[in-house]
Amino acid sequence: MGRLDGKVAFLTGAGAGIAKATALAFAHEGAKVAIAEINVEAGRTAEREVRAAGGDAMFIETDVTQDASVGRAIEATVAKFGRLDAMMNCAGGSLQEDVPVHEMDLGVWQRTIALNLLHPFLCCRHGIPHMMKAGGGSIINLSSHLGLMGSEKPAYAAAKGGIVSFTRTLAAQYVDYGIRANAIAPGTVRTERSIKRYENQDWLFAENPSPAARTRVAKQKMYPFSIGEPGDIAAIAVFLASDESRMITGATLPADGGRSAYIKVYVPEE
Ligand SMILES: NC(=O)c1ccc[n+]([C@@H]2O[C@H](COP(=O)([O-])OP(=O)(O)OC[C@H]3O[C@@H](n4cnc5c(N)ncnc54)[C@H](O)[C@@H]3O)[C@@H](O)[C@H]2O)c1
Repeated sequence: MGRLDGKVAFLTGAGAGIAKATALAFAHEGAKVAIAEINVEAGRTAEREVRAAGGDAMFIETDVTQDASVGRAIEATVAKFGRLDAMMNCAGGSLQEDVPVHEMDLGVWQRTIALNLLHPFLCCRHGIPHMMKAGGGSIINLSSHLGLMGSEKPAYAAAKGGIVSFTRTLAAQYVDYGIRANAIAPGTVRTERSIKRYENQDWLFAENPSPAARTRVAKQKMYPFSIGEPGDIAAIAVFLASDESRMITGATLPADGGRSAYIKVYVPEE
C-alpha cells in the first residue's frame, strides 16, 4: 500500500528539479499528480516519466505568476482527478541580477516576488476551496535557507522569508478545515539548474582560488550535509503530504544540513 494512496496532488514547476522528483515520488506512493509547468516540453516529459513508472499524471501548461492561469490549472486538476488533497508550490528560484538594493532593477524585485511569493498565494487562493470540499489537505511551500537568514540576494530572501510567515498564517486560518500548511527550506539541491550554475567551475579548483571560491569550500567543510539531491527534498514532501505528519502544521523544515542552525568556526588549512 502506498503512503499517498487515493490522494490527488498538484505540483508547480514539476517539469524539473525538486518538484519533478516529488511528482515521481508522490506517484510512486499512490497519488495522482497534476504537473503545472510553464515549459511545455519539460512538463510533457515529466508527465511521460510518471506514467512510464506506472503512475497517473496530467501536465497542465501553467504560468504560476498569473491568477487566471493558476485558476485554470486547479480546475483542470479537479475536473480530471475529482478532488485535491495536496499542493506543492515549488516553482521558483533567484535571479543573478538580484543584487544589492540600491543597484537593483525594479523589475528584478517584481519578477522574484511574483514567482516565489505571489505564486503560492495564487495556488492557495484557488486550491484551498477544493481542499475544504475534500475535508482537509496538505499545503507544502518552498522556502530556502536564504529565507531563514539574511543573504546577498535581497528579493529572493524577502520572498522566501515571506513564505515562512505566510505558511504559519495558512496553518492558523485553515486548521478548522483539516488543512495543514508547512514549508521546506532547502540548502543546496543538485538540480540541473544549480549544477549548471554552481558546479564544474574551474575557478573553484584553481591553484590560487578567489575569496568567493575559498568561502564555498569552507562552507562545504562546515556543513557537509547541506548539499543534497532532489530526491532528498521529495522524501520530506512525501512525509508532509501524508497523514504520517498529521501533527505538523505551520512549520518550516530546514533541509540545509544545519546552515541556518549553527555557525562553526572554520580554521583554514595552511
Ligand atoms: N535547487 C536549490 O538548490 C534550491 C535551494 C533552496 C530552495 N530552492 C527552491 O526550491 C524550488 C524548486 O527549485 P529547483 O531548483 O527544483 O528549480 P528548477 O529550476 O530545477 O525547476 C523549476 C521549474 O519551475 C518552472 N517554472 C519557472 N517559472 C515558472 C512559472 N512562471 N510557471 C510555472 N512553472 C515555472 C521551470 O520551468 C522549471 O521546470 C524553488 O522554489 C527554489 O527557490 C531550491
